[in-house]
Amino acid sequence: MNIKSVLFAIHTITSAAATTLYASHYDGHIFTLSLSASQNGSTSLTLASTLQACGEMPSWLMLDAAEHVLYCVDESGTKSYGNGSLSSFAISSNGSLAESSSSSSKVTTMPGGVASVIYQAGDNNNNNKKKKKFLAIAHYAGAALSTFQLPLTPDSQPNQVFTFTLTEPVADPSRQDTSHPHEVFLDPTGKYILSPDLGADLIRVFTIASDGILQECDPFKVTAGNGPRHGAFYPASVSNDHNTTTLYIVNELSNTLSTYAVEYTDDDSCLSLSTLNETTPYPTTPLPSNAYVSEIRIPDNDIYISIRSDQGFAPNDSLATLELVDGTGPLAAFKNLSSSYGTVPRTFALSPDGSMVAIGNQASSNVAVVARDVETGQLGELLGSVQVGSEGQPGQSNGLSSVIWGNDHD
Ligand SMILES: *[C@@H]1O[C@H](CO)[C@@H](O)[C@H](O)[C@H]1NC(C)=O
Ligand SMILES: *[C@@H]1O[C@H](CO)[C@@H](O)[C@H](O)[C@H]1NC(C)=O
Ligand SMILES: *[C@@H]1O[C@H](CO)[C@@H](O)[C@H](O)[C@H]1NC(C)=O
Ligand SMILES: *[C@@H]1O[C@H](CO)[C@@H](O)[C@H](O)[C@H]1NC(C)=O
Ligand SMILES: *[C@@H]1O[C@H](CO)[C@@H](O)[C@H](O)[C@H]1NC(C)=O
Ligand SMILES: *[C@@H]1O[C@H](CO)[C@@H](O)[C@H](O)[C@H]1NC(C)=O
Ligand SMILES: *[C@@H]1O[C@H](CO)[C@@H](O)[C@H](O)[C@H]1NC(C)=O
Repeated sequence: MNIKSVLFAIHTITSAAATTLYASHYDGHIFTLSLSASQNGSTSLTLASTLQACGEMPSWLMLDAAEHVLYCVDESGTKSYGNGSLSSFAISSNGSLAESSSSSSKVTTMPGGVASVIYQAGDNNNNNKKKKKFLAIAHYAGAALSTFQLPLTPDSQPNQVFTFTLTEPVADPSRQDTSHPHEVFLDPTGKYILSPDLGADLIRVFTIASDGILQECDPFKVTAGNGPRHGAFYPASVSNDHNTTTLYIVNELSNTLSTYAVEYTDDDSCLSLSTLNETTPYPTTPLPSNAYVSEIRIPDNDIYISIRSDQGFAPNDSLATLELVDGTGPLAAFKNLSSSYGTVPRTFALSPDGSMVAIGNQASSNVAVVARDVETGQLGELLGSVQVGSEGQPGQSNGLSSVIWGNDHD
């Protein structure tokens, strides 16, 4: 890690008057954090405010940056009992979250929501027709996927609900007792939503119609017992420099990284996947016992995967950095580990300019911000860390659940 990338990160912090982050905690709170730099070059991350909101189990935050709205998914409920919720909060000009009923909404959802994605639908050829926005939720315990049209109002009803059942015997009956969609994310064209289903060993694929209605394609069957958790594409957006698209999936049960070639059809019907390779994103195979892959992000040409409970930098866990073989992939090779600066890094997010990574450590319940060298991709220097809420225990649904970057503001 060279001093240049730390200075670049500091420049990023100071060029906006304030850099805000939001973290959700399974104890029913959303925290607003502030990252600042002082004139002598030291940086600090502090707790700005705490809001009790988003139901009993806030699990996942999502920013609609253009509309200055924060969405929060609540994981409450199981397939047999109870429901989750979805909340929205208008973000004021100083980054604080509005609580008043006119600027926040909360609706009941299917149970067990663990992740969301915002997607747009509309007529690309008709600029006068404003695109509609929607939000899709992956319901892990609820074995479902649901969608809502945005903006959320107190009267919002789900636009669509897909419920899933197992159709074949599973490899791991204790974890794969039912379908468990673990994430929802867009492909680089923004025309498809993918959802890794940990319980069913499937990658579910949906097309987005011009009215925002999702249509389910044939799901892609992964290696039995993989337990696909989260995924990301390379390249992240459509680019003339790349004629191939690759999907990378971290598998929670097999603790591997799967690489899939993505193929589009000329008529935009359904995309198809084919397996390229399955590797271990870690210096040893298998991972240390009780260590689990968690989140994957692919900014530029670097692949980052968080590793829960490996104690790679005891008492802290790790983030693994991989690089694309020959610079463009599709295969990825392990490169290096760096500290997550806490335990059980469930979640992490890149700052909009890529110069920093905010790591959400679930068990130690702290957010750590590290500098990222945008040229080499190397992570390292700790720019700030703050504990929010009470600590959790590895393997439990407690502690910090997600962290995201907010809008820059004055
Ligand atoms: C830099 O400034 C901050 C706050 O102004 C202070 O807390 C810190 O001790 C200073 N660090 C150094 C190395 O002078
Ligand atoms: C931020 O703005 C909100 C609403 O405008 C206000 O209530 C709050 O006091 C402000 N907070 C700070 C720290 O300035
Ligand atoms: C609440 O959860 C049940 C399943 O447990 C589901 O049938 C129902 O539709 C959910 N309610 C809403 C508003 O999503
Ligand atoms: C992508 O395909 C186009 C058209 O076939 C070609 O002109 C271009 O060189 C290709 N780009 C790469 C990076 O291979
Ligand atoms: C898949 O990855 C392994 C390393 O884990 C490597 O030995 C093998 O050659 C790769 N397969 C392909 C087709 O590249
Ligand atoms: C690997 O990461 C560590 C920080 O964890 C850093 O000090 C070291 O230089 C890195 N090595 C390489 C080869 O990138
Ligand atoms: C572990 O992370 C904390 C920040 O949460 C940091 O202060 C400490 O130095 C780290 N320890 C190691 C060995 O990396």
